[in-house]
Amino acid sequence: MKRMLPVAELARDVRFQHVRVEDTVFDPRNISPAAQTNGLAPTAVNASDNARGLMHGIFVGEIQALEGAGRTCFDFDTGDAREQAPFAMKLDMARQCWDEARHVEISCKLAEHMGSEIGEFAEQTLLYEAACNPDPVLRLTGVNRALEGLAIDVFTTMKNFGTTLSDPVLEFCEDWMLADEVTHVKMGSDWLRRLTLKDPDRLKNALEFQRSVDKLFSFGGFRGEHDESPVHLARNFRRLAGFSDDEIAELVDIAAQAYADAQAQQQIQADAAAAVAVAASAN
Ligand SMILES: [Fe+2]
Ligand SMILES: [Fe+2]
Repeated sequence: MKRMLPVAELARDVRFQHVRVEDTVFDPRNISPAAQTNGLAPTAVNASDNARGLMHGIFVGEIQALEGAGRTCFDFDTGDAREQAPFAMKLDMARQCWDEARHVEISCKLAEHMGSEIGEFAEQTLLYEAACNPDPVLRLTGVNRALEGLAIDVFTTMKNFGTTLSDPVLEFCEDWMLADEVTHVKMGSDWLRRLTLKDPDRLKNALEFQRSVDKLFSFGGFRGEHDESPVHLARNFRRLAGFSDDEIAELVDIAAQAYADAQAQQQIQADAAAAVAVAASAN
């Protein structure tokens, strides 16, 4: 079996549709007025479709989390050198594989429960791509802390969505998966601190990578403190997962910046449309 398996070689059957992450992040619909409202609010017209899309995203994310944690067990020699992964860390990653395999099954059944089928929505593969990093510490920040941290926020949102709809299946499944994700993020936080204890440059690089992934996934106000953001930062679970209050405050800033960027882009588009309308009426 080869090490560092490229994303193009992931095993997927014909039901799966791939989409580039750039196409999802920079989709112009993300800065449309409709996207600036909470699409998962019970009053939102498309709430059920939006929830099904998010559930499918969780499902493919679970597959990639399984693949990524499995690769970290296999891609590195076992040891304490910089290019290696310690045995105890590989054991944690193996435990994570066990959880993620269960999450794949749960998410697949939940998607079905919500009326979706595999491939109804496209799959972007950023999680696996972040899990291909040649430095295991960057895998910990990009995947365990940034993307599984996002999973904590998203699962909390979906759990609350289930509570609002009086759907115990959705509520309890999300709650159980959430408990596992807190552990995965905590493993990322603990190993990050342990492996970079005497290497501040490596820590700095790893946190920089985490920041860029976090920014990508706060796009258009998808995650933020604002009422109109569908996904909010789950502060208490973040603390349980090893995030300091300063790190949580930084995430809030990143999300606020992403929201402001989306608002500014929306204003530019509105101004351009108004200018075109004025020019057309003058002719
Ligand atoms: Fe998971
Ligand atoms: Fe996970």
